[in-house]
Amino acid sequence: MATVNPTISVTIEVNGQSHSRTMEPRRLLAHFLREELALTGTHIGCDTTQCGACTVLLDGQAVKSCTVLAVQAEGHHVTTVEGIGRMGALHPVQTGFWEEHGLQCGFCTPGVMMASIGLLSQNAAPTDADIRAGLEGVICRCTGYQNIVRAVQHAARLGDQTHDGSVQAAAALHGEGC
Ligand code: FES
Ligand code: FES
Repeated sequence: MATVNPTISVTIEVNGQSHSRTMEPRRLLAHFLREELALTGTHIGCDTTQCGACTVLLDGQAVKSCTVLAVQAEGHHVTTVEGIGRMGALHPVQTGFWEEHGLQCGFCTPGVMMASIGLLSQNAAPTDADIRAGLEGVICRCTGYQNIVRAVQHAARLGDQTHDGSVQAAAALHGEGC
């Protein structure tokens, strides 16, 4: 007799929109975002919780979405890289990566940017050492990290700009949705 896996109904707010799905309780948040919502900016670069490519904000805190069950995000606010800015109104971290060329292949970049936003929400004026320590959970194979540090410093200097992208992100960082 075939085994029927149990399912559960889960509702999560992602980038300001509520999404309800029925799924197995073991479904990872990273897979929920990519496969159910087509938010493929959240990358999966390992199966050992090491690379950080899957980093998103959960109520403003940077988390590795491959280590969070979707059901654990029930009733919480998730922000992915798709939710932090848009063309013409980039988030300061996106501007920093653009201006300081904080990427090469770009595979790690969504996770690094989300981790950077989490870092800046805790420490608005980090030293280079603070940035390197704060981003130790995300791995970049290309850049050597120097331009990533410059990009985060650039974003910190931009501070609390009030264009749409930063307002949206600031709301997400404070758990208010986008
Ligand atoms: S995919 Fe590598 S830490 Fe999540
Ligand atoms: S830019 Fe290629 S892995 Fe970071």
